[in-house]
Amino acid sequence: MSKKMITALLASVQLAGLALAGPAHVAGAARPWLNRRLSAGERAALAVRAMTQREKLQLVFGYFGSVMSGTQYVVPRGARMGSAGYVPGVPRLGIPAQWESDAGLGVATQRASTDAYRERTALPSGLATAASWDPGLAERGGAMIGAEARASGFNVLLGPGADLVREVRGGRDFEYASEDPLLTGVMAGAEIRGIQSEHVIAVLKHFAFNDQETGRTVYDARIGRTAARESDLLGFELAIEQGHPGALMCAYNRTRGHYNCQNRWLLRTVLDGDWGYRGYVMSDWGAVHSTVRSALAGLDQESATIFDPHPYYGAALVRALKDGRVPQRVLDEMAERILRSMFAVGLVDHPIKPGAHIDFAADRAVAEADEQQGIVLLKNAGEVLPLARTVRRIAVIGGYADRGVIDGGGSSTVFPVGGNAVRGLGPKDFPGPEVYLPSAPLGAMMGQAPQARFRYASGRNLAHAVRVAKWADRVVVFVTQWAAESRDVSLSLGAQNALVSAVAQANPHTVVVIESGGPVLMPWLGQVAGVLETWFPGSGGGTAIARVLFGAVDPSGHLPVSFPASPGQLPFRQVPGSGLPSGTPFTVDYSREGAAAGYKWYQVRGFKPLFPFGFGLSYTRFAYRGLGAALEHGRLVVHFTVRNVGRRTGAAVAQVYVGAPAGRWAAPRRLAGWRRVILAPGAARTVSVTVDPRLLAVFDTAHQRWVRTPGTYTLWLGDSSAHLPRSVHIRLPAWQHPARWPVHADAHH
Ligand code: BGC
Repeated sequence: MSKKMITALLASVQLAGLALAGPAHVAGAARPWLNRRLSAGERAALAVRAMTQREKLQLVFGYFGSVMSGTQYVVPRGARMGSAGYVPGVPRLGIPAQWESDAGLGVATQRASTDAYRERTALPSGLATAASWDPGLAERGGAMIGAEARASGFNVLLGPGADLVREVRGGRDFEYASEDPLLTGVMAGAEIRGIQSEHVIAVLKHFAFNDQETGRTVYDARIGRTAARESDLLGFELAIEQGHPGALMCAYNRTRGHYNCQNRWLLRTVLDGDWGYRGYVMSDWGAVHSTVRSALAGLDQESATIFDPHPYYGAALVRALKDGRVPQRVLDEMAERILRSMFAVGLVDHPIKPGAHIDFAADRAVAEADEQQGIVLLKNAGEVLPLARTVRRIAVIGGYADRGVIDGGGSSTVFPVGGNAVRGLGPKDFPGPEVYLPSAPLGAMMGQAPQARFRYASGRNLAHAVRVAKWADRVVVFVTQWAAESRDVSLSLGAQNALVSAVAQANPHTVVVIESGGPVLMPWLGQVAGVLETWFPGSGGGTAIARVLFGAVDPSGHLPVSFPASPGQLPFRQVPGSGLPSGTPFTVDYSREGAAAGYKWYQVRGFKPLFPFGFGLSYTRFAYRGLGAALEHGRLVVHFTVRNVGRRTGAAVAQVYVGAPAGRWAAPRRLAGWRRVILAPGAARTVSVTVDPRLLAVFDTAHQRWVRTPGTYTLWLGDSSAHLPRSVHIRLPAWQHPARWPVHADAHH
């Protein structure tokens, strides 16, 4: 805010009868920034004006909130032990501290904590929630973890993640949403709204192109500007518009040659300039490389400075301000952005009162509902599922299904209520341990089928597993793949593949339940009758899985990522940088796929994936009719009718894809929208989808605008990116729009 505007604002506040005071005297009504009638921007500008230089510097300098074994690091007294971060407040001005906790799936505890872990509720993984294609669900999940964060003493939650799943072996894909920018933006935006409804700042991360873990602190993501704007950056753009996150976290890696946290193009040109983002940018833990460059590029807050080689925003920033390399107005703006978000999200007006009661049963029900909708039925030969309640003998094999469901590792690890159900697995140190949430599928299945006899085999002894499988009428075999921050994963389930094959050979009525961070290869697919992808199923996971297996809930999840048939189908046969000595810089060259990430890549290459993006079976069937498209007030609106032609109630996820005239885009088709429709048997509904004009355009970097070529566009309708039985053409006129997208009046507050 300019000096002139502040003077005018101060005058108007004085006129409104509010006394003003300088930095030395700010008591009671003398703190106009506490006036809730003013906008967040106005309040931030007033508060900054009342701040001393020291107080401003304090706002941009973060502390780690946990002990660091093997170091002399002393956690500041105000921090919440075992947390990711802490930024002291300015009590004399009524500005609270920022207490930061990971992450997008629930309230985590830092692994290095010497204190007891916080036991909290874990949502299913980001991919699971996205597989529901239900933003309402994501919002409810966000509100649940936001409330747990608040009750745990945190007012900043370091999530959700919105990087595109370009690399299906990515160790953190489970924290992200999908390979498509629209699905990602909508789901992440909804989660942000949920978190912030609890007056907790959501931090959208990791900005940007942190699409793999291998060499994450050193690699350089190479991608053209246009392709970047139409892919990963579009996901972030939509998430910001729909969620208005208080903060963004810049990622460890470089993009187009520059570290993200000092990347002028990412932070100034795109985020600040084109998108008009008004919140603040915080660094990832140890992602800062400079003082002056970072400050000038738009990094507002250095997180947990102990992770950086120098405290760049400490004494070095003071010196840079003194000698003018960082102008004073830059520091003022940094402080103002942080404060604006604190006011906008409600951190100042709704102070945290740690120790509030958490209704864990209610929160677990939220996680369970999420998982129920996120489970994807991939195969159901001979209608082996749902398991009839009359089945007499059921074998449950493997995956610690007698104890719990697996969860992802790293900073986002939520330590579950009731403790880790399987101890001693995975690395002792970060990103371990492997955590199993104590929601056992076996017990829940027994609850669903009281008439049946159950036998469990751990799967470690193949001969025993085969005997149990032979005894049973139906076999459910669980396989797990642990994934974690800081390392990427293999697509192979390893020795578990032999277990599945042996069991399937012993009993053809075998159903495989996969708990994984992302796609896996299924060499046994032809041998088994059924397959469920359940992702990392979250705190209510066991119950959700059992309910889907027995048909208490119809499976309605659809894949938010393509499952490759082999690594040869991926843009990179091996994760780039694999095998390089740690710390060796390298390039991840996205120029071949460009904006054609995920299903778009498969379409360009003519590859048939194992399972395509958008795919998911149901216990019922749906038919799509009456596809029509029209321009209404300049917006493309698509109408169609969905009918449930099966015998059970279920939810269809009707997907609309669009293609440009004469294949002018990076890929033949883009997801343009969808509707999730719940229908009773025989029921039908006519619905419409309004297409975001950017999805019909290309980004013109020379003129910083979206441009649509005139011509005949094709719209397809179906239930996956590869099954689109209906299509229609529409002629669209030329259209263009500046990069700055008009957002809601209170956008960015
Ligand atoms: C992760 C972030 C996380 C931070 C704090 C980093 O290693 O990349 O996602 O928020 O640690 O724990």
